[in-house]
Amino acid sequence: MYRIRGNYYILETNDTSLILKRKEKSMEYVYYGEKISDYTGMELMEGERDGWGNQTPLSLFTQCGGTDFREPSLLVRFGDGSMATDFELVVARVCARPSGENLPLAYGAEKSLKLEYVDRPSGLKLTLYYTAFEKANTISVIARLHNGGKKEATILRLSSLQYEKWGVEEDFITFDGAWGCERRRHERKVSFTKIENSVFGGSSSHHHNPFVMLKGEDGAIGFNLLWSGSHRETAESDLSGRTRVVVGMGGNGFCYRLGAGEDFTAPEGVMAYGRTEEELRHAFHTFTLEHIVRGKWQKKARPVLFNNWEGTYFSFTREKILSLARKAAEVGAELFVLDDGWFGRRDDDRTSLGDWTDYEEKTGGLASLAEEIRGMGLKFGIWMEPEMVSEDSELYRKHPEYAMKIPKREPTRMRNQLMLNLADPQVQGYVFRAISRVLTMTKASYLKWDYNRYMTDCFDKNTPGGEYEYRYMVGLYSILQKLTERFPNVLFEGCASGGGRYDLGALCYFSQMWTSDDTDAKERLSIQSGTAICYHQSTMGNHVSASPNEQTGNSCSLENRFRVALGGVFGYELDLEKLSSEELEEIKEQISFYKEYRELLQFGEYHEITGEGVGGYLISSADGSMAICTIASQGKEFGRSNVRVKFVGFEEKCSYHVLARGNHGGVKEVGVASSDLLKKGNFPTEILFSSANPREYSNPLYVATFLFLKVCAKYPLDKFVKE
Ligand code: GLA
Repeated sequence: MYRIRGNYYILETNDTSLILKRKEKSMEYVYYGEKISDYTGMELMEGERDGWGNQTPLSLFTQCGGTDFREPSLLVRFGDGSMATDFELVVARVCARPSGENLPLAYGAEKSLKLEYVDRPSGLKLTLYYTAFEKANTISVIARLHNGGKKEATILRLSSLQYEKWGVEEDFITFDGAWGCERRRHERKVSFTKIENSVFGGSSSHHHNPFVMLKGEDGAIGFNLLWSGSHRETAESDLSGRTRVVVGMGGNGFCYRLGAGEDFTAPEGVMAYGRTEEELRHAFHTFTLEHIVRGKWQKKARPVLFNNWEGTYFSFTREKILSLARKAAEVGAELFVLDDGWFGRRDDDRTSLGDWTDYEEKTGGLASLAEEIRGMGLKFGIWMEPEMVSEDSELYRKHPEYAMKIPKREPTRMRNQLMLNLADPQVQGYVFRAISRVLTMTKASYLKWDYNRYMTDCFDKNTPGGEYEYRYMVGLYSILQKLTERFPNVLFEGCASGGGRYDLGALCYFSQMWTSDDTDAKERLSIQSGTAICYHQSTMGNHVSASPNEQTGNSCSLENRFRVALGGVFGYELDLEKLSSEELEEIKEQISFYKEYRELLQFGEYHEITGEGVGGYLISSADGSMAICTIASQGKEFGRSNVRVKFVGFEEKCSYHVLARGNHGGVKEVGVASSDLLKKGNFPTEILFSSANPREYSNPLYVATFLFLKVCAKYPLDKFVKE
């Protein structure tokens, strides 16, 4: 909803208000936060200002020139070397929301507030489109520069979104890590020295997710980008008592030559407000689900998958794959994913990327293998890493010029591989055709799109250096756009060594993401929690893998691994042939439990549970009548059993049956409790400690899973209790 009251422009979502004020040549932030019911007195919110830069307004963007010397969001260099601009606001009106040109945009909103500025001496035009996504309580900004002058100008920076507020007592919260330990939460006080959350390397990365949060007394504001490349988010306070956040593309040496008459659009930036983190998470979840993930799979129940990677790695035969598939079908999996190793001469990671042809000696014929798997009642899915090339490949031998390399320089190799130069339309064409061929030949219902290195040797003879990464990403998005249009029924799962490209740009094409290569249940708890703070759980791929865990060597019971993996899109990734018949029976029961509650688990409301010594998630139905909750404690201190927890997400003034899963499956009633008590009472969690036998596992993880059912006729207890 957009309201214009004199010089005030108000964007409203269901629960938030953003107030902007037009003042002379500019537009300023006045307020962003909890929804205002009566806007009387907005003019009283304006402070004094002087000409020394001490009281520059709360600005929507900051340019070079003028008296604001903090982090700029817009930098342009002209042919004479000068950089000052003086953009004046000339248009402020509500209009149709612009459509995307090269980059993915959020969908599902029709209007935007269009703010158009001109820099008269150069003829540059800056347009900011502010869009309110009402139900998601999210505001987005699209920033576009048009060169209406006669001479080329070079864009050195066009950030997606700048936000400022009064107040300096804010925490800046980021989600950082590395391969296998992604999105660990870090909190710092915003200070007078700028804090930067940034990566270069061509992907949103394992190291710093583009989602960041500002949290203070007034609540929490989260920021993110629809962009899968290098990015940069900064936060700084100043002595006049303001805090500024700027978010946008990053990377080294970005500069984009904007010729006369040309346009450049920055990735869409988003921000959402919540009085609490819980509300903010809910806003971003709604935004991801309703405005980012698209196509057939947006709200469609995702299949329980079985993936052979951790079970076989590269060493498999057709017979091995078929017997794994048979077992997967027997336990109730619905989709079999053939991972790395089926193409070219791929027996290890030194060869064949780019040769997307059947490794017949291994597969015994890929098309017939897929058919045979389908014959078992499973869907067939396949792994590819389309942006890469191995030097030991037919593709490289034939087209060395397709690889991303700088002439006369030795390229950096990561996992023994080079990247393809997707800035080149010819290479884009090759990749699109190769993937289409594989999907057509195998009739695959699912594609796992991997990306196992960073970008280092950016070069394309037809692309000016500073534009490379932007043009690469535009190339990548155009391939994804065409593929998802050509194969609308295929479920695309994104993967970048697990979790290395988990961002809103990628989620416009990949309905789900392989969350992390670390499948250890203990480690997964924080990885999943750091992911679910922004991204909806239906995008989060969670697998049960072997114990001891392949990455960490930690042991954990099958049931506890299941309990942790439940909170997202679910599957198994281990050698089923190594399991006992009892374990296979357990898995069968787990899958049937998951299927029974799949709609709830994948599309219900996700809440974080925190307590002293305990954490986890609770996923409740929209009406709050049913919920599944997994809580976990990392360890038991001898003599201290006082792990207590409060629950969230229930309907007011109701009673709930509390049911617990048994240590080898099954569900039994523990008792009945009121929603009020569940929320406020501090429940002891002894039940956790019965879930792991410390004598069986050293340093065990204690996990419990509960089912909450509103006491009502809709939920007859005997239907849910399973011995
Ligand atoms: C990456 C992925 C894994 C697996 C391997 C295959 O590491 O994250 O899940 O697909 O590649 O090489």
